[in-house]
Amino acid sequence: MQVLSNSVQISHTLLKAALDRAQIVVDATAGNGNDTLFLAQNARRSTIIYAFDIQAQALCHAREKMHEFCKRDDIEVNFIHASHDEVAQYVNGSIDLAVFNLGYLPGGDHAVTTKCETTLNALKIMLEKLRRGGHIAVVVYPGHAEGLKESQLIKDFAASLAKKYFTVGWYQMINHNNNAPALCWIEKVGE
Ligand SMILES: C[S@@+](CC[C@H](N)C(=O)[O-])C[C@H]1O[C@@H](n2cnc3c(N)ncnc32)[C@H](O)[C@@H]1O
Repeated sequence: MQVLSNSVQISHTLLKAALDRAQIVVDATAGNGNDTLFLAQNARRSTIIYAFDIQAQALCHAREKMHEFCKRDDIEVNFIHASHDEVAQYVNGSIDLAVFNLGYLPGGDHAVTTKCETTLNALKIMLEKLRRGGHIAVVVYPGHAEGLKESQLIKDFAASLAKKYFTVGWYQMINHNNNAPALCWIEKVGE
């Protein structure tokens, strides 16, 4: 049995453990809702999930997926039509877990993709709001031009975070093509 074959699988493995202790969860890029669904299915009771996307079409798909596959009434899922760098306007207080799955909506307009400046800004805001012991997962896709820039930017920024406050890992399949998706996993260890 193949256990881990890509960065999304690695992120889900780590997220599953982190969800055991999470109460406030942000899906920064809801897209077609696969990550939102995963978060909802694995969340503990009373978890509140905020799922952001700038595309109404994406949120529509994500909401439909949630209604079809997750019938839980012991958690709350809020779909928010806004950019992830506006998170502070929608989420009061601390965040326990945030997930970014960057790039464009599969099956959608490839021109509408996450952008370096906005992504970095959102990541900085989430790090500020992250509770000690909380986690952020960022899956990057260096296989397309904007994704390559974004990937390098996130990697450089994350590598510069002080280890007194954050533990940072970078996970990538190294025998796949050179531009295989990668996971940046950040844990807040101090403040
Ligand atoms: C790779 S898809 C996400 C996949 C999704 N997590 C899933 O499981 O289906 C990236 C999404 O990010 C969204 N996006 C782009 N810029 C954004 C921004 N500034 N704020 C929030 N979402 C954004 C796109 O509209 C797209 O739906």
